[in-house]
Amino acid sequence: MGAYILKINGVLKSVDVDPATPILWVLREHLNLQGTKYGCGVAMCGACTIHLDGNPVRACQLPVSAIGNRDITTIEGLSEQGDHPVQKAWLEHDVAQCGYCQAGQIMAAAALLRKNPNPDDAAIDAAMNGNICRCGTYLRIREAIKAAAKATVKG
Ligand code: FES
Ligand code: FES
Repeated sequence: MGAYILKINGVLKSVDVDPATPILWVLREHLNLQGTKYGCGVAMCGACTIHLDGNPVRACQLPVSAIGNRDITTIEGLSEQGDHPVQKAWLEHDVAQCGYCQAGQIMAAAALLRKNPNPDDAAIDAAMNGNICRCGTYLRIREAIKAAAKATVKG
């Protein structure tokens, strides 16, 4: 076991866990942040996407010991009121179906727009490619990302 102090959604949290524990399970089981989902467990589906210093990473394959003092953001901390431009666009475009993959999709989309505020179809596909949706919401995801980009540019 090891003691780790993690900065999660702007708040310092301390946990005492095995160093190899994936941060996904630290979030879900030790800190009760269950918005980040477990899909495949092998970095193939994107359901567990969180941000590490603003970059999208797969929480299921990231050991707690590798995080250091980098900032973790989960879907719970993406915005205070659930009103991040991506979240608003998701609602407007009614993107979710069963919803299981959607926290990961939103985190991937938010990271994309942070890096590239006006992505074209190719950039969207490249960034979102690894986020699998069994319900096939891909077209609505693409439209919602474009809407969020427009809303952000307009301010
Ligand atoms: S659960 Fe992490 S990528 Fe599928
Ligand atoms: S909305 Fe069902 S898996 Fe994506």
